[in-house]
Amino acid sequence: MQTELSKKLGVEHAIFGFTPFPAVAAAISRAGGFGVLGAVRYTAPDDLKRDLDWVEAHVDGKPYGLDVVMPAKKVEGVTEADVEAMIPEQHRKFVTETLAKYGVPELAEGEASGWRITGWMEQVARTQLDVAFDYPIRLLANALGSPPADVVARAHERNVLVAALAGSARHALKHREAGIDIVVAQGYEAGGHTGEIASMVLTPEVVDAVDPLPVLAAGGIGSGQQVAAALALGAQGVWLGSLWLTCTEAELTSSAVTRKLLAAGSGDTVRSRALTGKPARQLRTEWTDAWDDPNGPGTLPMPLQGLLVAEALTRIQKYEVEPLLGTPVGQIVGRMTSERSVQAVFDDLTRGFERAVDRMIRIAGRSGK
Ligand SMILES: Cc1cc2nc3c(=O)[nH]c(=O)nc-3n(C[C@H](O)[C@H](O)[C@H](O)COP(=O)(O)O)c2cc1C
Repeated sequence: MQTELSKKLGVEHAIFGFTPFPAVAAAISRAGGFGVLGAVRYTAPDDLKRDLDWVEAHVDGKPYGLDVVMPAKKVEGVTEADVEAMIPEQHRKFVTETLAKYGVPELAEGEASGWRITGWMEQVARTQLDVAFDYPIRLLANALGSPPADVVARAHERNVLVAALAGSARHALKHREAGIDIVVAQGYEAGGHTGEIASMVLTPEVVDAVDPLPVLAAGGIGSGQQVAAALALGAQGVWLGSLWLTCTEAELTSSAVTRKLLAAGSGDTVRSRALTGKPARQLRTEWTDAWDDPNGPGTLPMPLQGLLVAEALTRIQKYEVEPLLGTPVGQIVGRMTSERSVQAVFDDLTRGFERAVDRMIRIAGRSGK
């Protein structure tokens, strides 16, 4: 499955995989795709260094990339303590009461919540880049906005291609102005932060808007037919995030989350601000329902909401409080029905793609030879 972009990057299949897990990123690249490690959780540069060392040692010389989060709206000049001080008491009370209602235990003395807002601050993303540029990454992707001009220039000096996620043609055009090389058109169905336009509409809109810049289609892709459809819509490849979550190489924080993902249908996700304050698709749970309830206090804007719920989410995960336990995931969760290796997922995607293309060739009445 070769396109101009996959040839340029030297990969066998134009399948790009976003993942927060180093073992999954390396396995995607080894399987002939392009693994992209999500950096947002690495607030300590040494942790990122350790994991990039690991990826480097396990990709068998295949190319891979890094994804950072530099939001268009900056959170600069404020500390976490400043943000903490902006959180209304009413919202803190709501968190305490909701956790108490479900009997969620406290963290042990000295145990910190696993997630902070710092991963979303540009200065932290820049320290991640300082680390990453010492590795032979081939792609740098940015979520939630266009990367700053100096970052694009720094990447280009090192022969690193720059990608950015877009939920609309307008965003994609802004990215093009910022000098990026690849647009990831991410539809409404996708896991994580999403816009309001479905992939079927978004992909060709973005392809036409930024032509001849290459576009990767993201959101709702989990089978070879869907890969074929994305390429038919003009994309030069696909960008998948959810499908890897139930791969055997994924290090999810809790096996209860894996069980929930395997059981969920395509209608079991919701686009909610409960996680970060920006709409993000995730499993629908009693936690997201509580935040989306019109009788509740409602969510706070980013980055307040993320900081408000960070400790609560750590407690819910640690104690596996089933009704509240969730994760970002897209509508494709309905097809994630068994735990498989990344290689098995790839075999399925590439065989399914060939079948879909053969079928289209038959329909078109051509031999394909
Ligand atoms: C658990 C999870 C975490 C994500 N975190 C990020 C992130 O930090 N940065 C980013 O660019 N995209 C992130 N995404 C979105 C993916 O990059 C990708 O665009 C999306 O998953 C594609 O749609 P799909 O979920 O239907 O495959 C995340 C997606 C998931 C499922």
